[in-house]
Amino acid sequence: MDPIQGTVLISGAGSGMGQLAARRFAARGLKVAALDVNAEGLAETAKAGETISTWVCDVTDREAVNRTVAEVEAQLGPIGTLYNAAAIMPLGKLAEQDTATITRIMDINYGGTVNVAKAVLPGMLERRSGCFVNFASMAGWMPILLSGAYNASKFAVVAFSEVLYHENRDSGIRFACVCPPVVATPLLDQGRETAWPKMLDAGPAAIEPAAVLDAIEDCLHAGKFWVFPTRDARTGWRMRRWFPNMIWKYVHKTEGW
Ligand SMILES: NC(=O)c1ccc[n+]([C@@H]2O[C@H](COP(=O)([O-])OP(=O)(O)OC[C@H]3O[C@@H](n4cnc5c(N)ncnc54)[C@H](O)[C@@H]3O)[C@@H](O)[C@H]2O)c1
Repeated sequence: MDPIQGTVLISGAGSGMGQLAARRFAARGLKVAALDVNAEGLAETAKAGETISTWVCDVTDREAVNRTVAEVEAQLGPIGTLYNAAAIMPLGKLAEQDTATITRIMDINYGGTVNVAKAVLPGMLERRSGCFVNFASMAGWMPILLSGAYNASKFAVVAFSEVLYHENRDSGIRFACVCPPVVATPLLDQGRETAWPKMLDAGPAAIEPAAVLDAIEDCLHAGKFWVFPTRDARTGWRMRRWFPNMIWKYVHKTEGW
C-alpha cells in the first residue's frame, strides 16, 4: 500500500522541489495544499492540477501557520502527508553577512520547519498515521566556507527531525529527513547572487529535483528515516563524520583561502 495518503501539505510549494512534488501528487489524484510566501509561484503550481489548492503563508508566522493548517484540514480533510520544504539560501562570509540575514535564515529554515511541524503533528499523532518529511540538506552535515548561516539552519533541522523521529518512533507515523546534495532548483540562484562557494562546483553536478523526490518515496516505502538521494551524498556524510579535518583541508584548498 502506498504510504502517501490523505491530503498532502507542502510548504515551499511555489518553486523547486516543493512545486514538483505538488505536481506529481496532483497527477496521482491526491489533494494537495500548497503553501508558500510567493503568490506567483503558487499560481504557477496550481496550474498543474485541479486538486491543488494554494495558501499564501509565511512559515515564520506561527499564528498564520496554525490558521492555515486548520483551514486546510477543514477544507481538504486530514493531512496525511507533510513535505516541509520552505527555505532560503543567501550565502556569504559570516563576518560580512549582516546579522539580520543570518537570523532570518534560521527563522525560515529552522523556525519555519518547526512551526509547520508543530501545527501538523498533533493530528497525525491522534490518527496514528501519516508521512512526515522534513527537508534538511547535506549542508546539515557538512559545513563549508561561505555557507555558515545556511549550514547552522540545516544542522538545526537535522537535530530537530532526528529527535522528533525517535520520540515518536512507535506513533504509526513514517518520518523522513531529506539530505540532498546540490539540486538544480531556483534556490541556487540565491547563492549565486550572494557568494558562491567553489566547493559547490567541485563535486558532482547538481542532481535533478525528481531524483530527490523518488528517493524520498523509496525511503517512505521502506520505512527509512534518512534520505541521502545519491551514493556521493552518503559518502560525503561518512567522510565528514570520520575525517572532518581532511574535509576542511579540502575545502580551504578548493576555495583558495
Ligand atoms: N536546491 C538544493 O540544492 C537543495 C539541496 C539540499 C536541500 N535543499 C532543501 O530543499 C528544500 C526545497 O528547496 P528548493 O531547492 O526546492 O528551493 P526553492 O527556492 O526552489 O523553493 C523554496 C520555496 O520556499 C519558499 N519560501 C521561502 N521563504 C518562505 C517563507 N518564509 N514562508 C513560506 N515559504 C517560503 C520560497 O518562496 C520557495 O518557493 C529546502 O528546504 C532546501 O533548503 C535544497
